[in-house]
Amino acid sequence: DITLKKAVENNFFVGVAVSATRTEISSYDEVYTREFSSITAENDMKMASIFTGIDGSGNIIYDWSKIDALIAYAETNNLNVHGHTLIWHRSLPQALENFNGTDQEFEDVIEQYITEVLTRYKGKINSWDVVNEAIDDDPSTQWRNTLFLQRMGEDYVEKCFAFARAADPDVKLFYNDYNMTFDAIKRGKVLAMADQLKTKNLIDGVGYQMHIDYNFPSRQEIQDATDELVAKNLLIHFAELDVKVNAANDLTEFTAERSLAQAQQVKEIVEIFNAIPQQLKYAITMWGLKDDDTWLIPENNGRPEWPLLFDESFQKKDAYQGFLQGL
Ligand code: XIL
Repeated sequence: DITLKKAVENNFFVGVAVSATRTEISSYDEVYTREFSSITAENDMKMASIFTGIDGSGNIIYDWSKIDALIAYAETNNLNVHGHTLIWHRSLPQALENFNGTDQEFEDVIEQYITEVLTRYKGKINSWDVVNEAIDDDPSTQWRNTLFLQRMGEDYVEKCFAFARAADPDVKLFYNDYNMTFDAIKRGKVLAMADQLKTKNLIDGVGYQMHIDYNFPSRQEIQDATDELVAKNLLIHFAELDVKVNAANDLTEFTAERSLAQAQQVKEIVEIFNAIPQQLKYAITMWGLKDDDTWLIPENNGRPEWPLLFDESFQKKDAYQGFLQGL
């Protein structure tokens, strides 16, 4: 039988966001290993998940249990691992939120963190999102106002990439952000920053998150946004794909008609990605396996969603067939 990973014929990775807990459940394990060639931890490799404190000598205290479990899972099942994410303003350990040392001491902790994580997983994690969502949504503002900006200054992103490059010159370094396919101003800022980092040989790729809608952005917008990134000659990751069908809140259940429209959007995304020059295609990663696992639950999202390739019962949706048709 055809599977996603067979269908892409090793032209790029087909990824899925996972958790260490779910890899231990046989029904998830079966589909992860049958369909996918790469994993991203939905949360287990974020800073707040592994950085549990700072001891009296200024050394970071870690909980490696979940990340180690995922690495072992990937080794057993021959899966690529994309690391997500070293630095993100929404995943702050308590010890950094409450940090009362100097700015230099703060920066030293960040350098220690990046160095220790990359050194520990050298050769086991193929790529890392070094910084996630650092560019501001406001067109007139370059940097999002985060603790990292306040403590380390406007060159904090470059510093973090430099720490990562120094720790492991072989791991692929990515910058990752959202709204990249339709917010041309934000995208311009991201790509200009990536250009700067590339001049200094500090970056290898860019992730477009791709939390999108079934009817937005248009094919042309997504194509143009992809072409602009191709022109930068960096690896391309469609890093967190999910396709909302209920942004207008007009559905109380997933309909056959909307399902086909979603499949069409997935097909177009895959076609656009597949047409990227071979050497720049890194991965398409789905942000979850099945609809009832999505982060877009009513509590976060305000309404129900069905944004993934599999339904609650692990059955392939039309969107799954759309993925195959895009190849
Ligand atoms: C989300 C996870 O899916 C949620 O489980 C968690 O509560 C918050 O983070 N952009 C990113 C991802 O880069 O890390 C986010 O993941 C979704 C938005």
